[in-house]
This record gives sequence, C-alpha cells and structure tokens, in this order.
Amino acid sequence: MTCVTPSTFDVTPSTLRSQLARWPTGVAVVTALGDDRPIGKTVNSFHPTSLEPALVGWCIDHKSSQLDEWLAAEGYVVHVMAGDQMDLVIQFATSASDRFAGVEVGAGLDGMPVLAIEVPLRLECRVVDRLPVGDHTYLIGEVVTMTAAESIPMTLQR
Ligand SMILES: Cc1cc2nc3c(=O)[nH]c(=O)nc-3n(C[C@H](O)[C@H](O)[C@H](O)COP(=O)(O)O)c2cc1C
Repeated sequence: MTCVTPSTFDVTPSTLRSQLARWPTGVAVVTALGDDRPIGKTVNSFHPTSLEPALVGWCIDHKSSQLDEWLAAEGYVVHVMAGDQMDLVIQFATSASDRFAGVEVGAGLDGMPVLAIEVPLRLECRVVDRLPVGDHTYLIGEVVTMTAAESIPMTLQR
C-alpha cells in the first residue's frame, strides 16, 4: 500500500484559498436592491444558520466593488443554483459585466430583484445582522419566503 506523506503549508491567503477550495460547497446567486439598480453576485459562503428563528447567512468580501450597496441592502434573495446553471454562476461572478444581461428579473419581497428562472431553492430574506469578521462581513438574513423545485443543487469542489 502506498503511503502519501501530508504536506504542511504556510498559512497565507493564497494557500488558504487553495486548500479550502477542496471543501465541497453549494453555489448561489444572491441579489438585492442597490442604489436604484439590482445588484447580484455568485457566492459559495451561503449556509444555513438557525432553524428557529429561520436564519441563513453569507459573507461579502470587503474588496467587492459593490460593498457599500451590499452593506446598505435591507434584504437579499438567495438563488441556490442547479448543476446545469454554470453559465449564470460565471455571469454573476464576472466583474465589469452586466450581470443581469439576458436574465428576466421580477420583483419579490420588498421589491427585491428575483431571477425569473427555476432554481432548486430560492429564499427571500430580510437582513437582521451584519457582522464584520476579518476581511468579510457576515450578512445574516431572516428567511421570509421559500420556493423549492426538484432540480439538484450544484456542488463545487476542487
Ligand atoms: C464559486 C465562487 C464563489 C464566490 N463566493 C463569494 C462569496 O462568498 N462572497 C463574495 O463576496 N464573493 C464571492 N465570489 C466573488 C463574486 O462572485 C464576485 O466575482 C466578486 O465579488 C467581484 O465582484 P464585485 O466586485 O462586483 O463584488 C465568488 C466567486 C465564485 C466564482
């Protein structure tokens, strides 16, 4: 039997990002009302937080070009993406592009932008807390509406 020796790395942003990418996650597109426009981005920091009360959260990178708008948003919509929706995952992760190009958008809870596509799970949330943690801020949201479909959520793993 071959025995592979584990490697020890210096802990840097680069090595941490690379090794933590091995942890499997789902992927979501979050949307919100920005300054008189819809904003949206791809995230994999989304996760369940509490069942009662119904809370979820995700982390916004302080380097985001839309940071002020995300921190001011009073709510967000989580679209958990399916395995065949990689094109939208890439579109909403790409800076300097119109992330909403070609995507029909409806008005959801409190007028928030909702993508008019079928996704495995959609949660419309009101922000109840904003916790700065290191170089991210954790946006905790109370789930107000929940819409589910049969499609299987995408999993990312390096
Ligand atoms: C798979 C994946 C997961 C991501 N997860 C997050 C995340 O959890 N939080 C975040 O702020 N940005 C995340 N990003 C980066 C954003 O999607 C976006 O590309 C980045 O924030 C730059 O855009 P912005 O300057 O408009 O915010 C992720 C990107 C990818 C491809």
